[in-house]
Amino acid sequence: MPDSTVASSAKTDTYRDARRRIDALLDGETDWIAAMATVACELHHSFDSYDWTGFYRAVSDDHLIVGPYQGPHGCLHIDVDRGVCGAAARTRETQLWPDVSEAPDHIACQSSTQSEIVVPVVTPNDRLLGVLDVDSDTLGAFDSTDQKALESLCRTLGEQFGDTAVL
Ligand code: SME
Repeated sequence: MPDSTVASSAKTDTYRDARRRIDALLDGETDWIAAMATVACELHHSFDSYDWTGFYRAVSDDHLIVGPYQGPHGCLHIDVDRGVCGAAARTRETQLWPDVSEAPDHIACQSSTQSEIVVPVVTPNDRLLGVLDVDSDTLGAFDSTDQKALESLCRTLGEQFGDTAVL
């Protein structure tokens, strides 16, 4: 089996285990801040390649403010017309950059960041709660396996916290 297939299957297993823990921890939970903190913690400690893991909250149509996260300090405020996080909030589409030097509008909160994935959290009635942002100091740390797992998680978060989230 090629190395990339082994790596991808190990990643899938790690996401499955992390997801099981997250689902169990958030069972019956209604507090959005507690949920974001729990997700950031569980994901961050599941992968060596996750160097910054956390949320930006969509506090208005045009502005994001940092939420619970793990890792070195992140930018506190991001306008949605800026950066990879802003693009995810504007388009409501996952932004996947295996090499952030190719992202035209990447905001380098940490100069060590090499790759990044940002997934929007949207409720079933189309309200944007925020974005989940993961940064890595490794080039090419994220691929379609990460995208699939994180989109599934963020979809569930949007469904579970859509009615209760206070941003
Ligand atoms: N890189 C992000 C900013 C957030 S920090 O990296 C934690 C961006 O371009 O939006």
